[in-house]
Amino acid sequence: MRDILPPESARWRQFVATFASLVTDAGYGQVIPPLLEDIGVFSRLGEATDVVTKEMYDFTDKGGRHVALRPEQTASVCRAFVEHRPALPFKAWYAGSNFRYEKPQRGRYRQFDQVGVEVLGSDDAHVDVEVIALAWDFFASLGLQRVELVINSLGEPADRATYTSSVDQYLRSRFDELTAESRLTLERNPLRVLDSKRPPDADVIAGAPNIADYWSPEARTHFERVCDGLTTLHIPFVIDSRLVRGLDYYRRTTFEFRGGTLDSAQNALGGGGRYDGLVEDLGGPATPGVGFALGLDRTLLACDDEGVFGAQAHEPFAFVIDTTDGTHAMAITTALRRFGVPADRAFDGRSMKSQMKVADRSGAALAIIIGSDEAERSQALLRDLRSGGEQVVVSLSDVVATVATRFESQMNTGAQ
Ligand code: HAM
Repeated sequence: MRDILPPESARWRQFVATFASLVTDAGYGQVIPPLLEDIGVFSRLGEATDVVTKEMYDFTDKGGRHVALRPEQTASVCRAFVEHRPALPFKAWYAGSNFRYEKPQRGRYRQFDQVGVEVLGSDDAHVDVEVIALAWDFFASLGLQRVELVINSLGEPADRATYTSSVDQYLRSRFDELTAESRLTLERNPLRVLDSKRPPDADVIAGAPNIADYWSPEARTHFERVCDGLTTLHIPFVIDSRLVRGLDYYRRTTFEFRGGTLDSAQNALGGGGRYDGLVEDLGGPATPGVGFALGLDRTLLACDDEGVFGAQAHEPFAFVIDTTDGTHAMAITTALRRFGVPADRAFDGRSMKSQMKVADRSGAALAIIIGSDEAERSQALLRDLRSGGEQVVVSLSDVVATVATRFESQMNTGAQ
């Protein structure tokens, strides 16, 4: 688990703000689920998935309840829907940390952040298209160009069940050729073997049955409508019949966004799909659902690799240098801030030279200087720190209004 310090933390905030603005414009409202839920909420992710069996941060609380830190937020949003029954369709977005006890490495952490959306209450394939298009446009708004969209359909639950047993049978027929890890996975969850990135498994996986041969006519029509929609919106995609994803609740559409610059084990920038039975599993009425979550940590790594969406330093407009007792600095910074002008100052009664250094380092456009001479004359010096140190004298009573006007005109000309 990591600390996120400035300026990286500002980039995180900007990431969430960009996402929030995109999805709220599309009619999504924010849900803020708790970090901790009853373990039962997450058991539905699949008793045979790594997320549930190996990676859950679960414990018994002081009241004897078996609880877990959330490993994702789809189940929480569905649980919240069952509890509060908002009107349908329920279009929700969220942002925040999740916890999985994984082996930490670049792009894989035990505490990681996601932004995501969920739509409950419609099984129209155009909802699948809408959420995919939102994620696609979000990556584009970050400036990312090397993102690949991979999609698949797992069919209806019955299609998936028949397919799973065919895959199981097939893999058992080639058991000796599988890696030891995949043999273990096969015991718990045959479909997950198809996700193996281990080279010795590749040959066996290439010969596995294809899910498309198991789709019911309804599942096929739904999938075709999703593909047609993406084509209409000019969103390029690749169909990968091996895309099963790591959670058990998916039905029909599944999709993943892969970053072109990341290591293949950690190149999923985000993913999602349909989970039409999940709300029912959590005790609610039959309610279809579809959504995605994007990994903030990984997506920012992809941004670093592509040299886009860099951290932006937030500079004050004015820096107040006060070598008297600091009272002027206190009053002027507070007044400027109340006018909406970014302002900062130094503390601890430092020398003029030392405060000038801090002002320069802060990146401020303007220094407001009050030494003992200025204070005696009830004046201040305004020094332009960006264009060669030009300076003017203003009376102390006019400083705030003068600086606020300068700030406004800089904002209007876009120079700030
Ligand atoms: P997921 O594929 O488990 O899906 O996670 C989505 C994204 O979260 C991944 O593609 C990855 O970018 C990021 N992520 C997952 N685990 C880690 C980790 N340990 N460290 C860093 N990043 C990670 C879900 O969570 C589903 N709830 C998505 C969804 C929403 N399906 C339907 N609606």
